Amino acid sequence: MDTIDLLNLKHWFSNYCRTFYSPDGEDQKNIVLKELHTQQVSSNMRSIAGAVLHNRNKIIIAEAIGLLHDVGRFPQYARYKTFRDSISVNHGKLGAEVIEEENVLGRIPLNEQEVIIEAVRFHNAFAVPDGLDLETTFFLKMVRDADKLDIWRVFAEFYEKGTAERESAVGLGLPDRPEYSDSVLGCLAEKRLATLADLKTLNDFRIMQLTWVYDLNFPVSCRLASERGMIDRIISTLPQTEDIMPALSGLKRHMREKAAS
Ligand SMILES: [Fe+2]
Repeated sequence: MDTIDLLNLKHWFSNYCRTFYSPDGEDQKNIVLKELHTQQVSSNMRSIAGAVLHNRNKIIIAEAIGLLHDVGRFPQYARYKTFRDSISVNHGKLGAEVIEEENVLGRIPLNEQEVIIEAVRFHNAFAVPDGLDLETTFFLKMVRDADKLDIWRVFAEFYEKGTAERESAVGLGLPDRPEYSDSVLGCLAEKRLATLADLKTLNDFRIMQLTWVYDLNFPVSCRLASERGMIDRIISTLPQTEDIMPALSGLKRHMREKAAS
C-alpha cells in the first residue's frame, strides 16, 4: 500500500466515525474519545515503526493498522453502550469483521490486507497468539504497544478529571474507592499481567494498567512511555502506601532498563 491508499483509509475512517455521532452528550463524548484515541494510536504506530522498520511501505501498513485497530469500538458502543468486551462483544474480532464486510482494504494487495486484518483481530487479545506468521506477529506487537501508550494517556486524563467530567464508558463502572485488591497488586509485584476479571475498584484498574508495562515489546515504546510521563501521572493517582511502593520501584527500574536495551 502507498500514501494514497492511506489517505483513502483516513477518509473512510472519518466518514465511518461520523455515522456514529449522536445528539446525546454522553454518547458523543464516548465516540469522540475513541476517534481521538485512534488518531493517537496511528501516530504512535508511525513513531514505533519509524524506529524499528526501514521500509516506507511497511511504515504505512503500520499506520493503517493503528487507524483501523479500534473500528469495532464504534458498532460495539452503538449496540451495547459499553466498551466492556466481557458483557458485549470482542471489539478486535468485530473490527476485523467490519473491515472485511465493508471491503475497506479492497485496493491493496491481499497479503497486506491479511496482515492488517489479523493485527486488528488480535490487538486486544490477552497475549500474542501462537501460530501467526512472523510478519503479522511483528505488526501485532507494534499495535499492542502503540495502543497501550495511548490508553495510558486516556486514563491519566480520565483519573485527573472530576467525576462529572469523566466519560462514562471509560472507567468500566468500577467504584472510585481508596481500596485495592491484594491479588491485583500481587501481579504488579510479580511482573505479571492482571486481568479485568480481578478488578473490584478503580485503584485495581490503575494497578492493572501499570502491569501492562511488562507486556511492552519494543524498547522504543518504553522510551516513549517514559518521555510522555503518563505512567508517572497514573502512579500519582494511586494511594502511596507501604505495600504499593516496592512494586512501583520495580516497575520504574524495569522501564529504565527496557528503554535502554
Ligand atoms: Fe482496542
